[in-house]
Amino acid sequence: MELSQFKNIIITGASNGLGMAMAKRYANPGVHLGLIGRNRERLDITAKSCRENGSTVETVSMDIRDRENLINWILRFDAANPVDLVIANAGVMYSGKPGHPVEQKVIIDETFDVNFNSVINTVNPLLDKMQQRKHGSVAIISSLSAYHGIPTFPAYSASKVAVKAYYEAVRGLYARDNIFITIVCPSYVDTDMTRTLKVNRIMLMSLDKAVDKIIRGIGKRKALVSFPWLHTFGISLLKLLPERIADRILLIAMGK
Ligand SMILES: NC(=O)c1ccc[n+]([C@@H]2O[C@H](COP(=O)([O-])OP(=O)(O)OC[C@H]3O[C@@H](n4cnc5c(N)ncnc54)[C@H](OP(=O)(O)O)[C@@H]3O)[C@@H](O)[C@H]2O)c1
Repeated sequence: MELSQFKNIIITGASNGLGMAMAKRYANPGVHLGLIGRNRERLDITAKSCRENGSTVETVSMDIRDRENLINWILRFDAANPVDLVIANAGVMYSGKPGHPVEQKVIIDETFDVNFNSVINTVNPLLDKMQQRKHGSVAIISSLSAYHGIPTFPAYSASKVAVKAYYEAVRGLYARDNIFITIVCPSYVDTDMTRTLKVNRIMLMSLDKAVDKIIRGIGKRKALVSFPWLHTFGISLLKLLPERIADRILLIAMGK
């Protein structure tokens, strides 16, 4: 039920990690997928698996920071296959070196271009179309770091706060037109992104389990999906503590 309600789906960042895994899960007969990523080879691997699962697939290898290209491709796809689910999943994370918590400007710019501006450019043109049709679902892959900035990746945290706040702000307006926006805030999931962080494996959720939670949340039209609950509880608790103590706890948790 949760899967079969969507027929035309666009997923960004489908060439790796969560995006690749979600594409494979949504791939079923009768489903048409639009998959976006940069790495052609890995995108083709995703597409091949999706076709084996019975879906039809269109792929495009592009840098989603190319706003015009992105919007043109999405609107062309939507004109032929009215999109009923878009998952803005593509993201980048650069973690600061120990002792140099302030990241370089170029890193901050790239992080915001991909994690915030490109999400807006992916989703908002489709929101207009969905509004005309009075139907649609949107998933924004934010992060648990949107609950409280993390010292080892400040720009990433800030970009995830921005995207969470933006879609929280508009979520209620679009719900009136039968458009459901789900904001997803995962903690650490076992993908290439977290491999660069050298996270203790005990902190990692498996890709399969994370995709289960995301797909269930989107299917149930949840406004917010945060997981695992223990990490969500922990980071929410930080907000109740005096800020200086919360800062110390975070530094200790990050091994700094
Ligand atoms: N893994 C985690 O623990 C975790 C936790 C919370 C939130 N998230 C979020 O979940 C999303 C997916 O992350 P992941 O863990 O699956 O990471 P990943 O394995 O590194 O995959 C990231 C995906 O984003 C794509 N991408 C990045 N920059 C792009 C660009 N400029 N243009 C087009 N595509 C671009 C990549 O494409 P190419 O490989 O082709 O470049 C890749 O398909 C991200 O938004 C991330 O912030 C992840």
